[in-house]
Amino acid sequence: MAVRPTLIIATSDAQLLISLRQQKDAQAADTFSFELLTCATGAKAQDAVSQQPEQLLAVIVDKDLRDPTALSVLRKCRQVAPKVPAYVIVPDGQQPFDESDSKHLGIVGHLKKPLTLLDLQDLLLPESPEFDPTEALKAAAMRKHALDQEVREGDDTFVPISGKDFVSGKTSYFDLYVRLGSDHYVKILNAGDEFSPERLKSYLAKVKDFFIKSESQEHYLAYCSSIALKTLSGPSVPTRVKAERVVIQGTEALKFLERAGVGGRNILFAKSAAAASFTLAESISKDSGFALRGFLNDLAAVEHGVSVSILAALLGRELQIEHASTREALGLGALLHDIGLRQLPENVRHGREELMSDEERALYRMHPELGAKILATAKGVPTAALQAIMQHHERRDRRGFPNKISGAKVNGVAEVVGICDELVHALEQSKERPGIQIEDIMEGVYNGFSFPVGEAFRKVFMGEREPKKRPRPKRRQAA
Ligand SMILES: [Fe+2]
Ligand SMILES: [Fe+2]
Repeated sequence: MAVRPTLIIATSDAQLLISLRQQKDAQAADTFSFELLTCATGAKAQDAVSQQPEQLLAVIVDKDLRDPTALSVLRKCRQVAPKVPAYVIVPDGQQPFDESDSKHLGIVGHLKKPLTLLDLQDLLLPESPEFDPTEALKAAAMRKHALDQEVREGDDTFVPISGKDFVSGKTSYFDLYVRLGSDHYVKILNAGDEFSPERLKSYLAKVKDFFIKSESQEHYLAYCSSIALKTLSGPSVPTRVKAERVVIQGTEALKFLERAGVGGRNILFAKSAAAASFTLAESISKDSGFALRGFLNDLAAVEHGVSVSILAALLGRELQIEHASTREALGLGALLHDIGLRQLPENVRHGREELMSDEERALYRMHPELGAKILATAKGVPTAALQAIMQHHERRDRRGFPNKISGAKVNGVAEVVGICDELVHALEQSKERPGIQIEDIMEGVYNGFSFPVGEAFRKVFMGEREPKKRPRPKRRQAA
């Protein structure tokens, strides 16, 4: 049986310690997917963190911890387990650590008492959308359309899915339709049936997409996520836990999605996609050089890459990037787009060109090429991902770098990575402007991208709201 990761909670609050132990004892042994280790002193917590840093799910430290203080324990965590997320319990009436201390100490969130273990499980190991084949088939059986009959219903009641993702000889969990024209469809396969290879081939010669009813979309998303996670992480629970743990660190993107009113299901979809990309990158790193392993162990670099890949998953779906290999390239490209920065001196990695000398800027502008070179020899990195890394700063108006290429020469995957990267950097910089609205953050993000990418971006992240004004003159580029 796979080893469960350990959650350390360090507090000198006797009442809280008793409550946590009681909560654990009150539940069945398999309720929690982690082992709980409570520590009443800082010294015990420091010991526990040092024992098996690889097995840790998270460390939660009470700001009032004694012998030694919370600060000492957090520093120890940062030193021996830099990738493990740390949370701080802030007692009533006290202030959380400020933003720069939190970043420095690897704190990803602040918590309030009372703590419940079930809430902590949801926070630390959020469930991916579960795909339930029986439910999907049951839902499909309730719909009335007969096979091979024409259906006159609005285009908005159907959702396109990539035909190439369907493999012959496997049960379809969804009724499949083909579009004949506007508001005009025909059902070609019942949920629960299989395509014969000949039939599938003959359809794919004629159409690129199949359609499902929009009410099946939730099941379809859960189905795609479950396939992605199963394929990439196999039966290894620790790998999956690790990937999910890393995704929690895409805090910039996750906070933004909540503020922008993006629904919980969509957030789960984006998290699953980012977890799958991280798992894939981990598996590639086993046979590749030190640079990729170093990147995946760099907390700040991964935080940024995961944020971009969370947003890119949603934008890619809106743009109907549904073919598995292109989705894979998008996820990897988004996660690893700035890997080249690690080869550069620290003072240029922040990417704010307006603060750089000419010499520093020239160095910084080498990072896309350096990144593509690092990964060119790694086995399993698709060419489209390499192109995305190489071109994530190119813009269609030739104001990008390193090669100032234009128009159609900018790869579509690179555009998706590029625009999501701009947004994450705008979010990071918006912290310096408290009270700033989402619309203001979005203002400078659109420049230099193709119309479909800009429109899809607006639709996914702005919902009904319109950006204040666009296009705007170019201000700067992200890292
Ligand atoms: Fe970046
Ligand atoms: Fe960059």
